[in-house]
Amino acid sequence: MKTIDELLGEGVEGKRVFVRADLNVPLDGTTITDDGRIRAVVPTVKALADAGARVVVASHLGRPKGAPDPAFSLAPAAARLGELLGTEVAFATDTVGESARATVAGLADGRVAVIENLRFNAGETSKDDAERDAFAGQLAALADVYVGDGFGAVHRKHASVYDLPGKLPHAAGYLITTEVGVLKKLTEDVRRPYAVVLGGAKVSDKLGVIDHLLEKADRILVGGGMAYTFLKAQGHEVGISLLQEDQIPAVKEYLARAADKGVEFVLPVDVLISTEFPDLKTKAPAHPTTVAADAIPADQEGLDIGPETRKLYASKLADAATVFWNGPMGVFEHPDYAEGTRAVAQALVDSPAFSVVGGGDSAAAVRILGFDENAFGHISTGGGASLEYLEGKQLPGLVALED
Ligand code: 3PG
Repeated sequence: MKTIDELLGEGVEGKRVFVRADLNVPLDGTTITDDGRIRAVVPTVKALADAGARVVVASHLGRPKGAPDPAFSLAPAAARLGELLGTEVAFATDTVGESARATVAGLADGRVAVIENLRFNAGETSKDDAERDAFAGQLAALADVYVGDGFGAVHRKHASVYDLPGKLPHAAGYLITTEVGVLKKLTEDVRRPYAVVLGGAKVSDKLGVIDHLLEKADRILVGGGMAYTFLKAQGHEVGISLLQEDQIPAVKEYLARAADKGVEFVLPVDVLISTEFPDLKTKAPAHPTTVAADAIPADQEGLDIGPETRKLYASKLADAATVFWNGPMGVFEHPDYAEGTRAVAQALVDSPAFSVVGGGDSAAAVRILGFDENAFGHISTGGGASLEYLEGKQLPGLVALED
């Protein structure tokens, strides 16, 4: 895999360099609530611009349906990128149309442009190879060189991630190189004890990684919405909590396999419950109550891990040498349900372990809750991407950069 430093060494002055970034940031209307992914691509964009390249930055945002949708415009992200670079960033209002062609043609050496959301074109995510290839061909016409730096999207076999690099000389940007370097430390020669904290809504998103981690990790701590499927699999009632009934057999199998292999599965011992989901807009007080994890009443749902679980999880992380964390412990966007996620983040800050925070939501949570990013070993920009890497899967966006 050619690195960006090698590319810079060959000279990029005057060349149009297409940077596939992941600017898929959380938005509240047009306000970016966490700009971590934009900051993460700045070193690559800056290095190219400083070397005199004409930089064309492209990304997806959200999941529009293959046609323009103003709610998913990249315009706010382009503006933020300009602020972070301290320079004007041109913005094309389409992907491969007149605006994109004119914007790229108008770029002077050392200047940067962002083109509109790649998913406004159906070819980007198409399952049809020819359709993807055709869109990749149109994108290729905008550039002379390709730099892959959208780590968060490398698990997607999409036109700009997988097909386009094959059409242009290509290299990996600084972000991808860093992310892969860190994740390697979690798959090769892991320092032990290796503890993994998994949260978030759905067990089904984590099945592959749990399967793989049962061979690697010493301890797996479970929180968030997915914990209720584990509790149910252990025979507890979970009221109206999030539940994936169809995953119970798989979860039972994991619990049995973990016991066999001596991998410690740690589940919540208490939870915060309420009859209703909190209002995340008004953040009106939710007045949750705390109950034991095996005593959730039929009309209540679990929305965060409880105080005893926080202590338990902190103790399980205190002596770990390596920690990977993906997924919040509760509805951290509401202050009444943020303490579980905060406690895990704090435990990682306090622990001497090499800690990797993986994933959109947990990475955003760390920043939104006000933690210093530098207190963690690494905060990944990739949610699904880091999980699939840890599963040992071949990631299309990395494979495409290889030759
Ligand atoms: C992410 O948020 O994990 C990446 O940006 C990929 O987005 P996607 O899941 O919509 O492909």
